[in-house]
Amino acid sequence: MDLIDQMFAAAREAQSQAYAPYSRFRVGAALASANGKIFAGCNVENAALPNGTCAETAAIAAMIASGERRIHAILVFGQGDLLVTPCGGCRQRIREFADEETRIHVAGPAGVRASFTLAELLPHSFGPDHLGAGGANQ
Ligand code: THU
Repeated sequence: MDLIDQMFAAAREAQSQAYAPYSRFRVGAALASANGKIFAGCNVENAALPNGTCAETAAIAAMIASGERRIHAILVFGQGDLLVTPCGGCRQRIREFADEETRIHVAGPAGVRASFTLAELLPHSFGPDHLGAGGANQ
């Protein structure tokens, strides 16, 4: 299975576990890390609504907890007719561990519907380099 197929399968499985009783909008995400491992997550809502978290955030947390620091590519598996692209906050969270050319695939049940680079979704972004700290390299 190629990397996109692996991310698709992992994101679809995560989406099926989404906890979204309030929006009823289930999202899964899966990323491939620099060394080719797949990390997945789903949205987890909360009765105190602002405390809900996005699928992409969960996938990134899983990667970090395993000790990795670089996103090679990420796939978002959503529902509905519109493309489910990462929200603004998640674009910035992806930015922390990716670069301008990192691919962001947007998928639905029928497969990948569109692919973007991070620079397309978050142009002229602010990142770890601005703080001169090396960010993910530390
Ligand atoms: N959501 C995600 O998990 N990822 C996205 O890319 C878009 C939105 C979630 C947040 C919330 O639980 C629900 O979808 C509706 O906004």
